[in-house]
Amino acid sequence: MLHCVIMAGGSGTRFWPESRQTKPKQLLSICGQKSMIRATVDRIAPLVSPQNTMIVAAQVCAEQIRCEIPELTPEKIIEEPLARNTAPCIALAAYKVLKQDPEAVMAVLPADHLIGDEETFRTIIKTACDVAFADDRLITLGVVPNRPETGYGYLKLGAQIQGLKGVNAFQVQCFVEKPDLSTAEQYLKEGGFLWNSGMFIWKVSTIIDAFREHLPAIAEAMESIFHALNTPGEAEALHNVYPDMQSISIDYGIMEKAPKVLTIPMDVQWNDVGCWSSLHGVWSDDDCGNTVNGSALCVESLKCVVSSPHKLTVLLGVDDLIIVDTPDALLVCRKDKAQDVKKLQDLLVARG
Ligand code: GDD
Ligand code: MG
Repeated sequence: MLHCVIMAGGSGTRFWPESRQTKPKQLLSICGQKSMIRATVDRIAPLVSPQNTMIVAAQVCAEQIRCEIPELTPEKIIEEPLARNTAPCIALAAYKVLKQDPEAVMAVLPADHLIGDEETFRTIIKTACDVAFADDRLITLGVVPNRPETGYGYLKLGAQIQGLKGVNAFQVQCFVEKPDLSTAEQYLKEGGFLWNSGMFIWKVSTIIDAFREHLPAIAEAMESIFHALNTPGEAEALHNVYPDMQSISIDYGIMEKAPKVLTIPMDVQWNDVGCWSSLHGVWSDDDCGNTVNGSALCVESLKCVVSSPHKLTVLLGVDDLIIVDTPDALLVCRKDKAQDVKKLQDLLVARG
């Protein structure tokens, strides 16, 4: 049986001023009418029942997620007492699923990605699920890279897997999380690499074995509270173990170390909507490459990103700017600084 775990505990600080601590990226409707988490749940719903879907979230926005996704019963929105990155989130979900259904295959999905071709995406998830069920592999969905992005993981492709009828799956020779720019440029030049999309499929027993091997302290912490999982005592048990939990991503903690990683390439117009500059091509672009949400007039201006839903914004003679207007804050930022918007968080907190 397929279970789905949606990771929704990120803070989305690169989308300030739209995203705030209590309204992270996954709760925003940056890419259309629906919030990103609503779109994520709808995308997978034809494959997984609400009983087999869970969302792991930060306490501060769990209630909003419950309102946003009313078809999931409240206990399907799991509140982490503290953000400890994706490895503890996935371990918690895996042990909970293990208790419910030891034979389960689990798809782990981020809450804040955009997928253009949802039909093909679901076909790939189904295929990955069949492969995971038949084999003790960690499967990640891969994307053909088109720039030397340093914010992603890279998968060096090994041999194509034989014996999987019709499935385009490859062994991963090595997994390198967030390489520096010169390494990413080298990978692009060399070819034979895919980006890690951050979407994973595996048997629950396979990922738990990987935790026991590569992140044993996290596995032990979850085993120490196994009796309380899926019971009314779960929240208290999580409060007891989370403060001492190692904060590490699944990519550094397991995927870089595990020997049995497979990738299935996917071509589904994937966009991880990582920062304001990734909205090019998502909102409508004009002939000068300006991409606009709301109302803006771009005169003699090139390749700007403008979000101005509440009033008219006029640009004259500026290039490569990000301008985001909200009722109480305005961001004006050079586009090559889009990643650094997250650094504003500390400054803004210090300012009060
Ligand atoms: N529950 C929970 N708890 N969720 C979390 C936490 C946490 O502590 N930290 C992050 N998440 C959620 C985020 O909300 C997001 O949906 C997902 O986990 C991935 O976290 P990111 O912080 O966005 O990871 P990343 O973008 O830096 O890197 C990952 O994704 C890339 C593709 O977008 C990696 O898997 C890379 O290898 C990959 O290329
Ligand atoms: Mg991300």
